[in-house]
This record gives sequence, structure tokens and C-alpha cells, in this order.
Amino acid sequence: MNRAAPAEGSGSLLPAGVDTPAYVYDLAEVRANAGRLRSALPEPSRLYYSLKANPHPEVLRTLRASGVLAEVCSPGELDSAIAAGWAPETLLYTGPGKRDGDVARALDAGVREFSVDSPTALDQLDRLAAEQRVGVRVLLRVNDDQPVPGQALAMTGVPSPFGVDAAWVRTQPALFAHRPHVEVVGLHLYMGTNLETVEALLAQFTRSVRTFAALASVLRGEGVELRVLDLGGGFGAPFATAGAALDLTSLAEPLAGMLDAELPGWRVGAPSVVFESGRYLVGTAGTLVTTVLEAKTSQGREIVVLDSGINHLGGMSGLRRLPPLTPHLDPPAGASFSGPELVETIVCGPLCTPLDTWNRRARLPRLTPGDRLTVPNVGAYGLYASLVAFLGHPLPAELVVDSSRPGEPPVHLSRLALVRGTA
Ligand SMILES: Cc1ncc(COP(=O)(O)O)c(C=O)c1O
Repeated sequence: MNRAAPAEGSGSLLPAGVDTPAYVYDLAEVRANAGRLRSALPEPSRLYYSLKANPHPEVLRTLRASGVLAEVCSPGELDSAIAAGWAPETLLYTGPGKRDGDVARALDAGVREFSVDSPTALDQLDRLAAEQRVGVRVLLRVNDDQPVPGQALAMTGVPSPFGVDAAWVRTQPALFAHRPHVEVVGLHLYMGTNLETVEALLAQFTRSVRTFAALASVLRGEGVELRVLDLGGGFGAPFATAGAALDLTSLAEPLAGMLDAELPGWRVGAPSVVFESGRYLVGTAGTLVTTVLEAKTSQGREIVVLDSGINHLGGMSGLRRLPPLTPHLDPPAGASFSGPELVETIVCGPLCTPLDTWNRRARLPRLTPGDRLTVPNVGAYGLYASLVAFLGHPLPAELVVDSSRPGEPPVHLSRLALVRGTA
């Protein structure tokens, strides 16, 4: 049926001279996703981009220009966000275990809002803020009593490093009061990632809003007036499979209605409502282009070896809390599969380990070395969630294009490298 076009005729995704493996990011799609998500969220509300999904500088610059704020959780992400132009005082710095040096560095850079995950972390921030003679704001991350159904990877409602159990706040609220240099201004209720229906998102947000209201009244007794509600997100998008991101057009109205019913002051910022997203904003904007290096038969099975594998895509699936990844393989744009019957094929990467297998039963045409294939929807948690140090292959090229400007040269082309420095 389908046959991969040979590399030289395979056209449009990679310009001449750019070799595979290569990630291609389309800034027009990033902008479109930002617009789609923004219009699905109620006004007024703020939207943060979680850099962990993809901290490529051009992706960041595009999101900043689209009016999205930045959520960072490491020194590297902090540097990337500042380099992309976000003012440090607008950043939200999150993460369940922060080293003194990293917090001090963030404070020094001008970060003033943190999400914290324990009373100890509140004390740590107070001590370090005192040393720098600054005041900071804190969102207290809360681990709700139960997970909300429908999450690909529940991060709360289970024993978790993320946040403080809601019951802990209810029973010992004094532990979560302001510190001399730390004002507790809100709650952070990021529950999990990749919710695939609007109903699941609404159920999660409703639950979070109720938890917020209950804990706000408990903390009021400690002199803490909560004025920020970070509802997290978990807005779903396909990952290395075909398809489009979740249609969110039916979210805005019921979400605003729910907020009106549960939190009458939200429209005037009491509290102000905040969302976060990584995957939805960038997932559909990335494609991995890879080339067949080997094609052979082994003990009756077809085997192809690609120039990309778990070192470039899907490394985190090996941690077993994510579903195993079986990347969908397409011919490149402009080319078509045609020709002989599809055959069941074991698709491997180039790593010298049997673990480097993307699919043991892919239905593919008979491929030959030089054929190019693409994996769609890997703009989030693609390269930046992979095992790039394992086995020492070069990292893929990263090509940034803007499909809203056909005929213009690519925006950016580079390749990350691991470099040994002093410790
Ligand atoms: C606190 C927090 N916010 C946002 C995100 C981004 O999630 P997603 O990419 O599913 O939108 C994560 C992901 O782990 C997270 O931990």
C-alpha cells in the first residue's frame, strides 16, 4: 500500500542540508495553540506556560509575545525564561524540593513568587528571603484528598511529593501561616496531566475550587487571606500519535459559570484565577524527522533501525508511570506511502541496547535505508524529556519554522550539545 519516499525526494519538512534526526517546531502552531487555550479560559485569568514541556528559546519567545506568563522549576528553566524576556518578578517558581542555592539564585535574579510544598519549604524561603532582605509571595501547593478521574498521570490525591495534604492544612493550619518575609497569597492545585475531555477538566476545576474555598476559610483563622487560585491545567494533547489537541471551545462558558457559582468574587480578582499548561501549548507544534539506517529480516520478522530512538523521544516512558510510547510514523509532508503490502515491523532506534524499541508491531511498508519517517505531535516532552546522555549519540537538530510565513527561511536551526564543565 504505502511506501516511504526516498530521503532526497521527501521534501518539505527539512530544507536541503539539514540532516536527520531533527525536531521541527512550528511557531505558527504555538501561537494558534496559545490563542485557542486563551479563548477557552475565563476572563479575567492568567495563563502560565510550564517550561518543562519545551524550553526552546524560539518557542519561549513566541509564547511570551502571545501574552503567556512563565512557570519554571529549576535553575535552567529560570535562565531560559529570563533569556526569553520574561521579567523575573512575573515568574512563578515551582517544584517539590528546592536547594538553598537555587532558591537564593532565583531571589537574587528577582523572582518573587514561589509555589511551596511543605511548612519546611515555607521556612526555607523565609530564611533565604530574610538574608536578601526581600519579601516574597507564596502559593501553597495542595495535595487534594482524592485524585480526579481521567488523568494520565495523577500527581495529587495519592501519596505525593507535590503539595501538602489538604487534611494537613485543615488539622494544623498554623503551620501554613505567613512568615516574616513570606506572604501566603494563594493555593496551587495542579492535579495531573493530559486530561482528554472537557468534562474531566471541569470536574477537576470544580473540585479544586471547592477545596480552595474550604481551605481559604480555615487559613483565614490564621490571618491568611487567599487571593490567588492556581487551578493548574492538564489540558490534553496527543503525544507522538496522530490527531489534534483537545477541542476546548465548550470549556469557557461552563467554567466561568462554575466559578460564578462557587467563587462569587473571582471576576474582580478575589481571588484571581490562574492556569498552567505545557503540553497543550506546544505538543502539536513539534515533529520528529528520522531516517531508516537499516532494514532487514531477523528470524522471520522485519526489523528497521532508525537514526532516532528512546534517546530522542519517549525516554520518560521507561519510568513506567507513563504509558509505553509507540510513536505513530508518517511519511514526510508532501510524500506518500505507496507500493507493496504493509508488513508488521519491529521499529528500533540506534542505541546499543534492546530497550531501544519504539514499536514491536508497527504496520509499515517495506522500508529501505534512507527512507524518512516523521513522528507527529512531539513538541511537548519530546527531546526535553528524553535520555539524551545515554550512549553518546549527538542530539537531534532543532529546526524552527513559521508556517504562517511560507517562502521565508527557517527561523532557527541549532543542535544542543552536552558539554563537560567544572563541578
Ligand atoms: C506544576 C505543574 N504545572 C504544569 C505542568 C504542565 O503540565 P501539562 O504539560 O500537562 O500542561 C506540570 C507538569 O508536570 C506541573 O507539574
